[in-house]
Amino acid sequence: MHEMGIGEKGLETAKKHKREGNKPNLRNEGQKVIMQVENLSKTYTQGKIPVHALRCACITVRKGELLAIMGPSGSGKSTLLALIGTLEKATEGKIILDGTDLTSVPEKLLPGVRREKIGFIFQHYNLIPTLSALENVELAMRFSGVPKKERKERAKALLDDLGLGDRLNHKPTELSGGEQQRVSIARALANRPALILADEPTGEVDSKTRDSIVRTFKELSEKGQTILVVTHDPEVAKECSRVLRITDGVIKDY
Ligand SMILES: Nc1ncnc2c1ncn2[C@@H]1O[C@H](COP(=O)(O)OP(=O)(O)OP(=O)(O)O)[C@@H](O)[C@H]1O
Ligand SMILES: [Mg+2]
Repeated sequence: MHEMGIGEKGLETAKKHKREGNKPNLRNEGQKVIMQVENLSKTYTQGKIPVHALRCACITVRKGELLAIMGPSGSGKSTLLALIGTLEKATEGKIILDGTDLTSVPEKLLPGVRREKIGFIFQHYNLIPTLSALENVELAMRFSGVPKKERKERAKALLDDLGLGDRLNHKPTELSGGEQQRVSIARALANRPALILADEPTGEVDSKTRDSIVRTFKELSEKGQTILVVTHDPEVAKECSRVLRITDGVIKDY
């Protein structure tokens, strides 16, 4: 692992640790803890046989970390993201994100909390085919109380930043895979979430596009955006500030 992508403050601490002969800081030490996962477990019951998809996971994530989650198929990666993303209920344990205990939010309030705190990026982009790039990003803000004019301005600025300023009115089918993924990144950022969750975001693109998506993630993390990315690709993981490995539902953090 190297030191890129940990933000200026993290880099300074890393240099200090190096001078002092300590382990270099790759975990944004000195940055605030944005998420604390405590003893998180998920057991699915299929008929009579329980499947322990996640066992007693403990993870501390600091603001601005770009964190990779790797592990074989069926090891529990998507389960972990689904729990953090409040799409599934934990069997046991806690998830404190940005001061809110996600595991104790009443069902009725979950959509609002999810919208406000978490941005999702999927392998297959999940854009709405009948809407333009601009409208896809705007839509994410429609139920968040952002006034219409601001929605449009924010969507345009995000797409501009991601190099899609001249693709605002293109529909998803009129965009390349990499461009569609960029629109979905803009959509994930629209509500200024505390955390972005990405499940295999580079699974469908060529290596050049993959590299540009990873570069975008690194730039965002350097600006303080926290990102968790599930990936099978060592080239993606090696650009991250930390890698969590998961096997049979058990997480190893190093
Ligand atoms: N809804 C469900 N009901 C029962 N078992 C499930 C359910 N969802 C997942 N599982 C099981 O939980 C385990 C973890 O699945 P998960 O989808 O988290 O794996 P993964 O690491 O994301 O795999 P992949 O790399 O193939 O996407 C698997 O054994 C899976 O069969
Ligand atoms: Mg999965």
